[in-house]
Amino acid sequence: MSKIPKRNRRDFLGFCGGTLLAGMLEGSTLMLGENDPSKNRESRRTPKKVIIDTDPGVDDAFALLMVMRSPELNILAITAVAGNVPLSCTLPNALRMVEIAERTDIPVAGGASEPLIRKLVTAAYAHGENGLGGVNFPAPKIRPVKEHAAELMCRLIRENPGEVYLIGIGPLTNLGLALRQDPDIAKMIRGIVLMGGSLSSGNVTPAAEFNFYVDPEAASMVFDSGIPITMVGLDVTRKVELTELHIGLLEAGGGRVSAAAARIARKIMELYRKQGNSGGPNMHDPLAVSALIHPEILTFENYHIEIETSGDITAGESVGWKHGPLWYSAPLQATNVDGQASSQSFRSNAKVATGVNSQKFFELLISRLTANTVIHS
Ligand code: BDR
Ligand code: CA
Repeated sequence: MSKIPKRNRRDFLGFCGGTLLAGMLEGSTLMLGENDPSKNRESRRTPKKVIIDTDPGVDDAFALLMVMRSPELNILAITAVAGNVPLSCTLPNALRMVEIAERTDIPVAGGASEPLIRKLVTAAYAHGENGLGGVNFPAPKIRPVKEHAAELMCRLIRENPGEVYLIGIGPLTNLGLALRQDPDIAKMIRGIVLMGGSLSSGNVTPAAEFNFYVDPEAASMVFDSGIPITMVGLDVTRKVELTELHIGLLEAGGGRVSAAAARIARKIMELYRKQGNSGGPNMHDPLAVSALIHPEILTFENYHIEIETSGDITAGESVGWKHGPLWYSAPLQATNVDGQASSQSFRSNAKVATGVNSQKFFELLISRLTANTVIHS
């Protein structure tokens, strides 16, 4: 039975179905970092080619269901990585989401089972041991493709030069491996939208956000790669919390996708409350993917971001400069460096989301998850 108070539900659905939502669904001009800005003006109706790299994960599962219900995106592949839970869970979870959304046309590849050089630290405490809050969906019937995630990325990017957006919503290990295998792909990637980092403290350590904490070396490679980056970090994802109203709307949705999302959401809310938290779990990854679907939900500022890899207690921290000069730490006495610390002039390498319209985001998320259409690109 739906737990939505009648008035709230009517208001929310009225809003979802009304002119505001219609306006949002019209399409929008992209203001994200891109390798070829002139292409921003291309037909609004041409779906963007994307590869989604993910570690499902509760919010990853929501993000996957959302993108598979989004006609703005042409999903070339889904690649799984170890992160929230081991690869032995994230890969079958990705396959399960593809089956639930009836998008078995999308190839799913398995990737890295551990970070580039570190041991895997998971977040089962937040996502449940199986990554889906303890909700048991049947074992997937479909199989992953044979290619490794990194190889598949390289091949698809080379086959579609200048056209592919990556969506990175887990540790960036698979992309790190792809860049190591074939560094030239960096120039061929249209842009990457990633959930990761923070300009305002971490969620694992005071310094680091989970995805960058797990594989700081891979994150650092990506920020140094020259790929146009859109970073959607904790500064904004902390502002989008799942509520009872959202869960009630999903439960009332009726379709396979909303029913699956509702089951996960209900369980994760229970887990979240049991752990003594108030509010609701953050929808980090769906917010990040919405940057490619409806970027006007977010506001962005240009930053120069570097990832700390050497600190014992700060590894994975995303340090952001808003203007120059970019000063580095004071040189140690034991080194031969003369005098001053080194510095560089300002060069932005990322658009960072610093503002979000949370209500518009949830209208988009809930409306996509409760829509009854199956989209085939
Ligand atoms: C990120 O870490 C994971 O736990 C979530 O899926 C999200 O990608 C948030 O820090
Ligand atoms: Ca994730």
